[in-house]
Amino acid sequence: MAELEEPVRALRERIERAGRVCVLSGAGMSAESGIATFRDALTGLWSRFDPAQLASVEGFRADPPMVWDWYAERREGVRAAQPNAGHLALGEFARRRPGVLTVVTQNVDDLHQRAGNRDTIRLHGDILRDQWLDGCGRGRVCDVAQAEDGRPPRCAECGNQVRPGVVWFGEMLPPGAMEAAEHAARTSEVMLVVGTSGAVWPAAGLATKARRSGAFVAIVNPHTSEIDDAAHVLLQGTAAQLLPRLF
Ligand code: APR
Repeated sequence: MAELEEPVRALRERIERAGRVCVLSGAGMSAESGIATFRDALTGLWSRFDPAQLASVEGFRADPPMVWDWYAERREGVRAAQPNAGHLALGEFARRRPGVLTVVTQNVDDLHQRAGNRDTIRLHGDILRDQWLDGCGRGRVCDVAQAEDGRPPRCAECGNQVRPGVVWFGEMLPPGAMEAAEHAARTSEVMLVVGTSGAVWPAAGLATKARRSGAFVAIVNPHTSEIDDAAHVLLQGTAAQLLPRLF
């Protein structure tokens, strides 16, 4: 870690001097909270499935109980998880320097919010939120909380199924989320990318957008990522190890 001393110190100084900082987080941000990343091998019961198959409308329609159970298990994991030292460092920074930090996350857990970054921009939705799978055949707008229990829950009136409030492969991002994220990336003096493989667009494009707008771009990741060439500096380490030293 000695070889990181200087780049970490230099980046910490940039962050302290900056008026606007943007952090883009991926699944690696929550790895030290015990939430598995996507591209680590799927463990246990799900090891024989491809996340893309499970995290898609087709996958859900093909086997609603199986996909519902996968999300139910992941929801339990999120509820049991605690923000790690990386999340807490960002929450503390936001308290100390109000209005400076914008957190943009690809994650569907609520750990940034629980650590204090309540206005985190969610690009891929919220695993703890339910929504209807389809529009109501009767043109009604029923409260998804009223759905009848089941795997998945259904509307007692029209049979509409409940699905998790996350963005599935091939689906649109939440309205306005990408625009807000791009604005944050373009107006930041420092852009820190933490714990993402850079494999999924449009989130992966934010680092290059920040760099083109003049931001100093740094990546925190124990491994290489597909967007390393967008960074001015690569800090080979984990979120919980490095963020407390940077913020
Ligand atoms: N600290 C920082 N980074 C870590 C850590 C850690 N403790 N552990 C792993 N990583 C890094 C890995 O090296 C990898 O680059 O986190 C990254 C996780 O990559 P992915 O599993 O691909 O997760 P992510 O980049 O967030 O995936 C993007 O893909 O599956 C979709 O919608 C899903 O939001 C997700 C998107």
